[in-house]
Amino acid sequence: MFTSTYWNSMVSQTQLTGQDLFGRTFDMDEQSLEVMAARLEARGKHAFFSQVIDDYMNALALSRDETILDLGCGTGVVARTIARRGDVKGRIVAMDISPYLIGLGKRFASEEGVAGRIDFLTGDAHSVIEPEGKFDVVVMHTLVSHVVDPAAVIEEARRLLRPQGRIVIFDGDFASRVCATDAPDGGAEMDRLILRMTAQSTVMRQMPRLLAKGGFELAWSRGYVAADIGRADFFSSILPAFRVLLPKAGVMPEADANEFVDKLELASRNNEFFASCNFYTYMARRLDRQ
Ligand SMILES: C[S@@+](CC[C@H](N)C(=O)[O-])C[C@H]1O[C@@H](n2cnc3c(N)ncnc32)[C@H](O)[C@@H]1O
Repeated sequence: MFTSTYWNSMVSQTQLTGQDLFGRTFDMDEQSLEVMAARLEARGKHAFFSQVIDDYMNALALSRDETILDLGCGTGVVARTIARRGDVKGRIVAMDISPYLIGLGKRFASEEGVAGRIDFLTGDAHSVIEPEGKFDVVVMHTLVSHVVDPAAVIEEARRLLRPQGRIVIFDGDFASRVCATDAPDGGAEMDRLILRMTAQSTVMRQMPRLLAKGGFELAWSRGYVAADIGRADFFSSILPAFRVLLPKAGVMPEADANEFVDKLELASRNNEFFASCNFYTYMARRLDRQ
């Protein structure tokens, strides 16, 4: 039942419709890519994401020279963090659909002295040009909420994994994301508008089912709440990005985006800020017939 060598070539990220800019990095303008890259780097080095990466890498408990594929690697901040771990001795391949982000990834890896540990590739996670069964571990760190077809990406990860290989999927449950404002509705309408920027805003709630259907056995999971109360902290680096990305996505005019961010930054200075989002990690093992 789970022995297919199905190649998901029918699905392509270019089919994405809607306002998810992280799902359209392959044809974005440079200004948008610059602010996205800044946000990815800031949050990737934040204590919350460092803890998340530590948690799933510890749960993997690597013991030899396992090969790791970081799918949807962006600027490679996660791949670099993984490369620095003492228990990671095998090759790391980091792949993203954006040539611009891959270019930055190579530069940052070189600046941080880990370029020799990571091979960077450009490509679509729905159909990866790598041989079947090449990897021991496939990591998707906030990729699935932006892809056209999460089930097809999971199927593709399964093809790339060796039998019994493991998949790690970490992402936000973005339908739970709230950012309080002083508007009469407390910011609910803004939350609804911003939600349009995530193609798969509830995919992490479906993940146990998607993994089972995709031929994986769930082995470990963890839930997190990222909540900034009083001062903006984890969310602070998304605020400058909102000034550019909300108008670029057509979610709201630039003046409205600036007013929204000005008020949130003021709330943070006044110790009145509130933003929150649930995140989840799933680790699952590829099932195969004995
Ligand atoms: C929110 S970012 C996460 C980047 C990185 N994993 C991190 O946590 O910093 C989502 C990334 O997925 C990439 N992406 C979106 N759709 C993709 C696809 N179909 N194939 C490969 N990468 C994709 C985007 O270019 C972007 O870099």
